[in-house]
Amino acid sequence: MKLYLDTAGVDDIQTAAELGVVDGVTTNPSIIANSGLEYREAVAGINDVIDGPIFAQVIADNTNDMINEAHAYQDWADKIIIKIPASRAGFEALARLRAEDIPAGITVVFSVEQAVLAAKNDATFVAPYLGRLDDVGADGLATIKRMQRVFNAQEFDTEVLAASIRNTTQATALYEAGIDAITMSPDLLEAHITHDMTDRGIVGFDSDWGDRGSPISD
Ligand code: E4P
Repeated sequence: MKLYLDTAGVDDIQTAAELGVVDGVTTNPSIIANSGLEYREAVAGINDVIDGPIFAQVIADNTNDMINEAHAYQDWADKIIIKIPASRAGFEALARLRAEDIPAGITVVFSVEQAVLAAKNDATFVAPYLGRLDDVGADGLATIKRMQRVFNAQEFDTEVLAASIRNTTQATALYEAGIDAITMSPDLLEAHITHDMTDRGIVGFDSDWGDRGSPISD
């Protein structure tokens, strides 16, 4: 399973990377805009602190300009994966970029059929949005599980990259379902660490140990 961080915050990425579990970083236009940085500057900053892939989304709404942006992004970091929205122009851009062997996939995905179109074109990934599906009363988890079952049944190589994850309950359900990859905010990754009973357990051990000090000190 791949675990990506959904942020452009370099400090957050560095802190999270120290846990040893971060396989790469996903961004989108909103994340880059909120960073206050120029697009290229944001991607280069992420590249300085992470070894894994950086997912960078095209901004254009027509196929030719998407492809031009994708080509330009390739020079911005060591390992760029192009994110393309699931529009008609986007699917055409995907077909052309994959024919050039440029790593690229489809994002803003809300249905199994969108995911299948992407996988048929050998997309590197598809990114379904769990939280946003739940927001409109749909079952985001069920949609993503179905997507993964279809990909397994059809033996597609495309990675199912679950996005828009809001809490640890959603995250653990995705792990249990065997979803290929998940992207999450630094806060959600941090929430994986903390548990009230762990905190109380550590306090108890500290209290029982008292003032004995470190076992390796004189
Ligand atoms: C991935 O990069 C997606 O763009 C992101 O997870 C969307 O999350 P949101 O629905 O919280 O904006």
